[in-house]
Amino acid sequence: MKRLEGKVAIVTGGGGGIGSAVARRLAEEGAKVAVADIFEDSARRAAEPLGGNGLALAFDASDAASVKAMVEATVTHFGRLDILHNNAAMTDPVKSPQDTTAVDIPLEIWREILDVNLTGYLLGCKYAIPHMVAGGGGSIINTASNSGSAGDLARIAYGSSKGAIIALTKYVATQHGRQNIRCNSVAPGVVLTEALEKTVPGLKEIIKRHILTPEFGTPDDIAALVAFLASDESRYITGENISISGGGLVHQPHYADLMAFMEQAG
Ligand SMILES: NC(=O)c1ccc[n+]([C@@H]2O[C@H](COP(=O)([O-])OP(=O)(O)OC[C@H]3O[C@@H](n4cnc5c(N)ncnc54)[C@H](O)[C@@H]3O)[C@@H](O)[C@H]2O)c1
Repeated sequence: MKRLEGKVAIVTGGGGGIGSAVARRLAEEGAKVAVADIFEDSARRAAEPLGGNGLALAFDASDAASVKAMVEATVTHFGRLDILHNNAAMTDPVKSPQDTTAVDIPLEIWREILDVNLTGYLLGCKYAIPHMVAGGGGSIINTASNSGSAGDLARIAYGSSKGAIIALTKYVATQHGRQNIRCNSVAPGVVLTEALEKTVPGLKEIIKRHILTPEFGTPDDIAALVAFLASDESRYITGENISISGGGLVHQPHYADLMAFMEQAG
């Protein structure tokens, strides 16, 4: 028996690097999966290999009516809802670079990022939970980030949205636990996606000095954790934020410098 046999899932941002890997993994484990993304073509590309167990839906996470319609379309198509993976994030190549510091960020960029990354997750919970309760319970997995637990030189809106997702997760878990709704967040550090491959040259190497595992994680690593949190095997875990980042946040800040010093000293 597969772990998610008979379950219905929504993956938002499902056309992206991590979301498409999660959709694939949940389907492999037996779930029927709605792949929801602002870009219909990328949702379709991710849903197609799932055959009849996949459904591509276009929606905008920052628009309440659109989130509601996406949830309703899933329930109408598959008959129930058990799993919600809130995973979409604003990654617009023109807008994201304007997410800088408190002094420099344009207010409209701050608002837009919070609308997609944070309010979008609240809306997913708002419209999904009643269906989950009607079906006897459910599991919500929110994608946070290590950027929600520590400061950085840029991306103040992104990091703030991710920190707030960790809090949102605990509130949903607390308020709906007795209705058999579990809610956890996964916090990736750097994950090897196509987007990362295209990032600033040299950045990957700098970050790699600060992880404890020999290699970066991949979208499939995130998908494995999401599938576990979606399944009944994690039935006693709720309200937690699980960092999945090769130990990127667990060590002393001087770790990389000390390693370099020790290598030099032979
Ligand atoms: N890749 C990493 O290293 C990394 C690290 C930490 C956290 N994360 C988080 O993982 C999640 C997935 O990121 P990814 O790396 O796969 O990026 P990605 O850009 O491949 O995926 C994000 C997806 O969200 C969709 N999206 C954007 N705006 C939307 C909107 N308004 N409504 C609906 N969908 C929308 C995009 O079209 C895209 O498919 C994000 O929440 C991201 O913050 C990623």
